[in-house]
Amino acid sequence: MPRRKQIKRIGILTGGGDCPGLNAVIRGVTKPALDHGLKVMGILDGFEGLVIGKAIQLYDKDVSGILSIGGTILGSSNKGDPFHWPVEVEGKIKITDKSKEAIEHYDAWGLDALIAIGGDGTMHISKGLSELGMNVVGVPKTIDNDLEATDLTFGHDSAVYVITEAIDRLRTTASAHHRVMVIETMGRYAGWLALNGGLAGGADIILLPEMPFDWDAVYEKVKRRSMMGKKYSIVCVAEGAKPKGGKLVVMKTDAKRTDPIQLGGVAAVVAKNIEDNTGLETRYTILGHLQRGGGPTAFDRILSTKFGTYAIDLVIKKKFGRMVALKGNEVKSVTIENAIKHQKLVKPTDQAVLAAKAVGVCFGTKEL
Ligand code: F6P
Repeated sequence: MPRRKQIKRIGILTGGGDCPGLNAVIRGVTKPALDHGLKVMGILDGFEGLVIGKAIQLYDKDVSGILSIGGTILGSSNKGDPFHWPVEVEGKIKITDKSKEAIEHYDAWGLDALIAIGGDGTMHISKGLSELGMNVVGVPKTIDNDLEATDLTFGHDSAVYVITEAIDRLRTTASAHHRVMVIETMGRYAGWLALNGGLAGGADIILLPEMPFDWDAVYEKVKRRSMMGKKYSIVCVAEGAKPKGGKLVVMKTDAKRTDPIQLGGVAAVVAKNIEDNTGLETRYTILGHLQRGGGPTAFDRILSTKFGTYAIDLVIKKKFGRMVALKGNEVKSVTIENAIKHQKLVKPTDQAVLAAKAVGVCFGTKEL
């Protein structure tokens, strides 16, 4: 990996699950980079493109008009980890190391730096590649908002907006039919989506991975609302929520993914138990990938643009091995190494939890 004095050519990729704002970051990186006379290679389909060697040169026309568009013009993948590259040998999945190939392509394209936009998986890979000598700058994305080093990841606000709107819509049927409506959010092992979406949507019960719930507390809350003449209840449950002493509901496992566990389906269990134990008609909706779809909110467009432009600034200043982060109202950077040390999880003492409790939201714990 030859080191040039001046940065001339950079690569950019989007790794892991897509989310609104990725294109806004690509634009935020590429426009200033081109203005500085740099060449920008868009690596396709996340780290898979780096290992296999799939990239296109990005010009101004490629990043014009993409600010408001969801997804990513570069494609993404959560199966392309160069350090854990699955190959099928005699019908079995064998994990191999393809980091050498990733570096070979980085060199072959003449890259001086790589901007990797992604969540915790992408940042772990970025750390590994940095240790092998690659000049990497990370930009944190995920609807889950579970990266400790940044106050917010872009994509989260857009997903919360979808959840809020979904709850508003489901409330009308809940109210008309006097039903309990259970809405399942994504978020993996962190409850931020369910907490913020549930709070914004006015959910009566919010169930989070960080606060294992008590079935009786849930039934009690629903029954009490019904006895008070409230004709419906809204339950917002995170896909990673589980009852005390219970297990996660796993939709399927896939050894080829960076995280082999695919969560999903807890809403069906919650809905069935509520109906069986309260006698109240209950329906459930799994919001799934709707939460990652569509364009970014105004907030996410602004945050993504700030993140993208800050990332290219770090590259030009040769501040490598760092991840862009929001601290309060300011965009700063932290080392990628520190960024991945802890997952950001909801604490029962978080202000949003306390505010929700103050307006009567039940978290499935004994105090209702
Ligand atoms: O990390 C983002 C996320 O949307 C999680 O909330 C969810 O558990 C997971 O990705 C779903 O991944 P996939 O799209 O690969 O099924």
